[in-house]
Amino acid sequence: MTNTSFDIEAHAQDFQDKGPADILRFAFDNFDNIAISFSGAEDVVLIDIARRINPEVKVFSLDTGRLHSETYRFLEQVREHYGVELDVLSPDAAQLEPFVREKGLYSFYKDGHKECCGIRKIAPLRRKLETLDAWVTGQRKDQSPTRANVSVMETDGAFSGPNHTLHKFNPLANWTSKQVWSYIRANDVPYNELHSRGYISIGCEPCTRQVLPNQHEREGRWWWEEETLKECGLHAGNLES
Ligand code: ADX
Ligand code: SF4
Repeated sequence: MTNTSFDIEAHAQDFQDKGPADILRFAFDNFDNIAISFSGAEDVVLIDIARRINPEVKVFSLDTGRLHSETYRFLEQVREHYGVELDVLSPDAAQLEPFVREKGLYSFYKDGHKECCGIRKIAPLRRKLETLDAWVTGQRKDQSPTRANVSVMETDGAFSGPNHTLHKFNPLANWTSKQVWSYIRANDVPYNELHSRGYISIGCEPCTRQVLPNQHEREGRWWWEEETLKECGLHAGNLES
């Protein structure tokens, strides 16, 4: 089933107080052509819940080429643990190579992360999302001021086209980090070993660092940039809204 004329905003209100399993069940009931976007702890919680509802659930990950070696091992651990089909997407060499030749491997420290993220994350994501009717992310409202209004389901204005409406499910939007980690512990969900070493929110290696006790998790991401700019473009719709 492919549901392209689906009014997701009309349903969103009914699901604001529902748990992730109800939201995922609704997503799978309405979309066959749907996949979970996976890189971090939240996403494995979603995979764990989703597998119980839909064992065939599809998962993809954006391999920027700059992830920690621990993250690569974690991706493999999750693939094996759940037996999921994991689509690992790489940047386009024709875009990446001239960029690195011209600007080097660490240009983001000088002129911001947008250009590098654009090539290493957003272009491969766009290519993937063009093939899907809906995607599922692990965004939470309390992750960042830019995410405070994230809905559990929405139209993805940033990646929809004139002939293609893309739907986005954020089943953990109303969960806290504490709820995520309670679920992980209670259900023996695999997690990135970097979490045992002071990392909370984990992205690419050069753009992620540990945080101190009581520092907000996002302070370890792109720490040289202003808080309200800390969206790499994956969730550009948050900035629009
Ligand atoms: S980011 O935009 O700042 O990098 P964040 O790390 O908070 O995002 O993750 C939010 C959600 O975006 C994740 O739960 C996941 O769904 C998606 N995501 C982030 N990075 C990746 C990636 N490398 N591959 C696939 N999905 C990702
Ligand atoms: Fe490049 Fe850093 Fe963005 Fe990764 S997070 S794509 S290394 S700017």
